[in-house]
Amino acid sequence: MNRYFFVAFSLLLPFMVTSRLAGDEARVVHPYEVFERPAACASCHVDIARQHEQAMMSQAYTHHWDEIEYFQLAVPHAEKEPKVAEVKAGCNGCHAPLAYLAGDIPPKPPAAGTRANESVSCDLCHTVVGFAGDTPYNFNWVVAPGKVKQGPRPGLVSPHHETRENPFLRSAEFCGTCHNEKSPYGTWVKATHLEWREGPHGKAGIVCQDCHMPPAPGRSAKMGEPLPDVRQHLFHGAHDPNKLAGVIEVRIHPEVREAEPGETVRLTAVVVNAKAGHKVPTGSAEERMLWLHVEAKDAKGAVYHLPVDRKGFAGEELTIASSTALAYQDIGDIRGIADFPGLLRDGAYPALRDGDRIFRLPYLDPRGRMTVAQWHTASFGPDYRLAPLQAMAETLSWKLPAALPPGQVEVTASLYYSRLVNSVAAFLKVPDDEWEPVLVGHHTTTFTVLP
Ligand code: HEC
Ligand code: HEC
Ligand code: HEC
Ligand code: HEC
Ligand code: HEC
Repeated sequence: MNRYFFVAFSLLLPFMVTSRLAGDEARVVHPYEVFERPAACASCHVDIARQHEQAMMSQAYTHHWDEIEYFQLAVPHAEKEPKVAEVKAGCNGCHAPLAYLAGDIPPKPPAAGTRANESVSCDLCHTVVGFAGDTPYNFNWVVAPGKVKQGPRPGLVSPHHETRENPFLRSAEFCGTCHNEKSPYGTWVKATHLEWREGPHGKAGIVCQDCHMPPAPGRSAKMGEPLPDVRQHLFHGAHDPNKLAGVIEVRIHPEVREAEPGETVRLTAVVVNAKAGHKVPTGSAEERMLWLHVEAKDAKGAVYHLPVDRKGFAGEELTIASSTALAYQDIGDIRGIADFPGLLRDGAYPALRDGDRIFRLPYLDPRGRMTVAQWHTASFGPDYRLAPLQAMAETLSWKLPAALPPGQVEVTASLYYSRLVNSVAAFLKVPDDEWEPVLVGHHTTTFTVLP
């Protein structure tokens, strides 16, 4: 009841410290014990349990980078800056919902082995009955823990619990309660569900579950009846190289097939978001690096890097790779480091060169500097990401060197994805597996240099 009230209240007053109010109210409501452990479900729902253990949502609190960001940036920041004080509790509303509901704030670090570690667990999702308000965001799910498990199908019988068919679990709004996030500054710092809703998949009713929990024949419980379409609990995303492979396609072509040294050849690379139901990057876009890197190789094997042509829109420089630009100065403010110059804005990667195009949404702190602290985001730079089933064309004008040898030139366009800009990873000692780039797509075209 209180939770409904506060969430409804918060929608009327969007600039209030909403999640703290909801959190304070929710705190005394649901102690850890009212939720069952995933191990209790695993004895019957074997495959689902083994899948969920391998998904990031079962590690949303324990995963190394989550632990680092929460304890080394968010908590200290919340303790010194009243404007963001709410995130000390609020991060847990999505990452450690049982701790949040129990009022265990901040939870003990993962090494202590508390039930915060269950992260987004079976019993949390399967006791969600709906959400409060019109727009799902900032963990405004409504939960009713207990014997009754909410599921997608009617009339199922289980020896362990009651089941209730709840269409909400089949909706994208269910996912949106945690996959949309508004910062204390009122900015949408995660909008996967909103992006989806505006895009072709949202309009066609192809929901998150269709791509992240695809149906396969089997049984959902050991003693259940065979079903043609058991929803697989894969929840695979950017941590799965399979899911990233080919998520953005690239094709490149030259304007002419023959050219002479000294001429300018214009090439066009077209990149397509053909596989995702939302923008790419989505969600934690503040951390992600997706870039186009183009190289030419002449008939003798010499390699030339080709920078993209500028388009001239406002804020474009934030989308063009620079090996010297600095950002993330707020990390110094948060950690109390005097005169912190910032970190390399675009990191340092072997396959990232000055002039490469970066597909990103720059998150800006209250002083207009790029930040990876999404809770500290007051505004944005240009949204230069790839919308679902849309393409973006990048041109590259290359003045052929006078000494270019005659013969075939091969031009290769490559797209790389790194989950966390690696200057930040290095500074905060986040393990390499969190930032190592993945080659998501590439294509080679040719033209001939005439003697
Ligand atoms: C003793 C075995 C057992 C345990 C333990 C158990 N379940 Fe079940 N559960 C079943 C059976 C059997 C069904 C019905 C499956 C069928 O008929 O296809 C079921 C059905 C469900 C459904 C409905 C599925 C649908 O398609 O609508 C949900 C949701 C569910 N269980 C969640 C859980 C959760 C969460 C836990 C742990 C808190 C859990 N179960 C523990 C046996 C169990
Ligand atoms: C992030 C939320 C989430 C978590 C965590 C989660 N589930 Fe589910 N589960 C869902 C949703 C959503 C569906 C229904 C998907 C659909 O039908 O569109 C579902 C479906 C099911 C079903 C019915 C599958 C079918 O198609 O018959 C069972 C059983 C189930 N879950 C059990 C579990 C168990 C056990 C766990 C933990 C090991 C778990 N779930 C973890 C969201 C979740
Ligand atoms: C048409 C299929 C499709 C639909 C529909 C879809 N997704 Fe995705 N999703 C993908 C693909 C492909 C990726 C991998 C690309 C990436 O990580 O950016 C992905 C990635 C993700 C990621 C990881 C992003 C990151 O950077 O870590 C999240 C989170 C996610 N999806 C959530 C959702 C939610 C929530 C919805 C519904 C509102 C949804 N997806 C709908 C295909 C889909
Ligand atoms: C209670 C909050 C909550 C709900 C509800 C929820 N998610 Fe998530 N989800 C998270 C959090 C937190 C993460 C980040 C995990 C991490 O720390 O990497 C996440 C991560 C993901 C990822 C990224 C995995 C990767 O490889 O990086 C996918 C995909 C995803 N969720 C899909 C879904 C879908 C689909 C639904 C709805 C059926 C859903 N989620 C519902 C909280 C939630
Ligand atoms: C409204 C729900 C929500 C809140 C509140 C929230 N997160 Fe998240 N967080 C997510 C989801 C969902 C993802 C996964 C997004 C994706 O992969 O696109 C995520 C991803 C992350 C990641 C990146 C994980 C990765 O693997 O790259 C970190 C780190 C993180 N969150 C930390 C925090 C911290 C610290 C806070 C509090 C300041 C916080 N989150 C608040 C939902 C939330």
